[in-house]
Amino acid sequence: MVHSSCSILSIFIILLVASPELTVSVKVPTVDEFFHCVLDHSEIALPYSISFYTPNNSSFNTVLESTAQNLRYLLPSVPKPEFIFTPLHESHVQAAVICSKQLGIHLRVRSGGHDYEGLSYASEIETPFLVVDLSRLRSVRVDIEDNSAWVQAGATVGELYYRISEKSRTHGFPAGLCTSLGIGGHITGGAYGSMMRKYGLGADNVIDARIIDSHGRVLDRQSMGEDLFWAIRGGGGASFGIITAWKVKLVPVPSTVTVFTVTKTLEQNATKILYRWQQVADKLDEDLFIRVIIQAASAGDRGGRTITNSYNALFLGDANRLLQVMEESFPELGLTRKDCLETSWIKSVLYIAGYPSNTPPEVLLQGKSTFKNYFKAKSDFVREPIPETALEGIWKRYFEEDNPFMIWNPYGGMMSQIAEDAIPFPHRKGTLFKIQYITSWQDPQENASKHIDWIRKLYNYMAPYVSMFPRTAYVNYRDLDLGMNKKTNTSFIEASVWGAKYFKDNFNRLIQVKTKVDPDNFFRHEQSIPPLPLSLRKRKRRGVHGKI
Ligand SMILES: Cc1cc2nc3c(=O)[nH]c(=O)nc-3n(C[C@H](O)[C@H](O)[C@H](O)COP(=O)(O)OP(=O)(O)OC[C@H]3O[C@@H](n4cnc5c(N)ncnc54)[C@H](O)[C@@H]3O)c2cc1C
Ligand SMILES: *[C@@H]1O[C@H](CO)[C@@H](O)[C@H](O)[C@H]1NC(C)=O
Ligand SMILES: *[C@@H]1O[C@H](CO)[C@@H](O)[C@H](O)[C@H]1NC(C)=O
Ligand SMILES: *[C@@H]1O[C@H](CO)[C@@H](O)[C@H](O)[C@H]1NC(C)=O
Ligand SMILES: *[C@@H]1O[C@H](CO)[C@@H](O)[C@H](O)[C@H]1NC(C)=O
Ligand SMILES: *[C@@H]1O[C@H](CO)[C@@H](O)[C@H](O)[C@H]1NC(C)=O
Repeated sequence: MVHSSCSILSIFIILLVASPELTVSVKVPTVDEFFHCVLDHSEIALPYSISFYTPNNSSFNTVLESTAQNLRYLLPSVPKPEFIFTPLHESHVQAAVICSKQLGIHLRVRSGGHDYEGLSYASEIETPFLVVDLSRLRSVRVDIEDNSAWVQAGATVGELYYRISEKSRTHGFPAGLCTSLGIGGHITGGAYGSMMRKYGLGADNVIDARIIDSHGRVLDRQSMGEDLFWAIRGGGGASFGIITAWKVKLVPVPSTVTVFTVTKTLEQNATKILYRWQQVADKLDEDLFIRVIIQAASAGDRGGRTITNSYNALFLGDANRLLQVMEESFPELGLTRKDCLETSWIKSVLYIAGYPSNTPPEVLLQGKSTFKNYFKAKSDFVREPIPETALEGIWKRYFEEDNPFMIWNPYGGMMSQIAEDAIPFPHRKGTLFKIQYITSWQDPQENASKHIDWIRKLYNYMAPYVSMFPRTAYVNYRDLDLGMNKKTNTSFIEASVWGAKYFKDNFNRLIQVKTKVDPDNFFRHEQSIPPLPLSLRKRKRRGVHGKI
């Protein structure tokens, strides 16, 4: 009954159709013009027929839909790109930046297509736009001797995990649980997974990167400098440039790990046990990661509904030691030997991602997601246990929705040891766990507003129990309810509201980096980091600390 990590999400936008008086006539470059410009600026030639897709081509929808995870952003009412460009070589990405600038068409970049608000393939604020889809740039080069791997942006995390496991049973990488995530976008927002308590985030384990900047130059860590290298590891996607590859540091994993899933219903004291979990989850042995997946379910024979809390865990060790750890720290869950499955790290990846038990790891090479839906999601960080009475209020709200879903994700361990400003991702010491709220549906005819209203109300209800001043959120769980940029006028004041939620004080440094590397705001979207407005730049330059 535990949903696959990948089967969760999808959204519907209340679409703002541009009113006629706002429509300005823009000359849309033709795809031919763009193609020829790209040829002129690329190191190696590329055939038009396999790298450009216009809406009048029958492959257009297939390519557009291929990795788009949230079906809300594929609905007919949502604006579509003029064309999609799938580069075959890094220099084509450079050319795409140069040509998009030269020909005046807005650019969106997509790696794995999992953006919660569809920002990599749809836009509410920019027309016309093209999508640069990096799915053909997906090579993975693992160097076990060097403990590292170079991964191109279009590869999924599943492909990276597979390629590591192919070379070693005792190496791994601590990124997302859902195996179809694109490494390109994923790491830009942090990238957490089941080894975060031991090793931190994917972004904490990046050692180099290749990025195309707003001038179309390709930069590595050394040539981009430490400010930009800091900003791209957690500052959110598509604000600073296009990452073409990440170099990541591999981490040691034992040859035998243990996984389990134990489910408790309300009738089995779920509320009490969840209260207890909140007290221990961040203090457990760092080898142990227990997340809780919270759903509504039918209550069986008696009819009606209940709540299920599924404790879904990875332990970096064998079952005997796990049972000892559990007996000492969390006996209330009642874990037994027969709940435990000893396996290899790569198979634990499949287990946590929700694949059926004997799926071969090669499934990861398919590099695509198994399930899509319409969804809206939100996030919170929790710093004090939520009282049982408040949990009961959540259950009450759960019974009002068709497909309510939450994942509570434990912090502590390495997450508490890394400084808040080490990278832009600031949710560290003092965080007990993160909540992700999701509501999803399968039928395009559904009244999306009904579901979105429901999740917003639940979010309001939770306000007293979660982080405050600011109420923080995870940038990889992009949520446009928190505020968004306008087309002609990135509202600097408004941006500081959502900016503080995602990045706390790191938002200031992100703005400074943005102002330095992309002052004209070429890389922009509904929640991109804004550069300082010109007026403020001038004023600052006169000040004592005027260096930007
Ligand atoms: C089913 C599902 C499960 C998830 N599970 C996890 C999880 O376990 N852990 C976790 O941390 N997060 C998780 N996420 C959130 C995920 O990390 C983010 O959605 C992430 O941004 C996805 O990256 P992508 O490349 O797949 O998405 P995309 O939609 O391609 O990109 C996301 C954003 O980054 C930008 N971007 C994409 N590629 C690049 C690039 N090469 N350079 C610069 N900017 C780029 C895009 O324009 C967009 O703004 C999950 C999301 C979904 C839908
Ligand atoms: C459509 O795309 C395919 C593959 O890219 C190409 O072979 C074909 O010529 C295109 N057709 C049109 C009408 O553009
Ligand atoms: C549609 O296809 C024709 C060629 O078959 C091409 O000339 C034209 O530019 C395409 N239209 C768009 C909007 O790309
Ligand atoms: C629930 O907890 C109570 C005590 O708090 C205990 O007596 C009871 O046996 C528990 N029920 C289950 C099903 O575990
Ligand atoms: C959709 O849901 C919203 C919010 O619950 C409601 O106000 C609206 O009337 C509904 N629309 C339809 C067509 O049912
Ligand atoms: C830009 O934003 C500022 C502050 O929010 C506002 O006062 C101004 O009118 C806006 N300008 C335009 C053109 O929308």
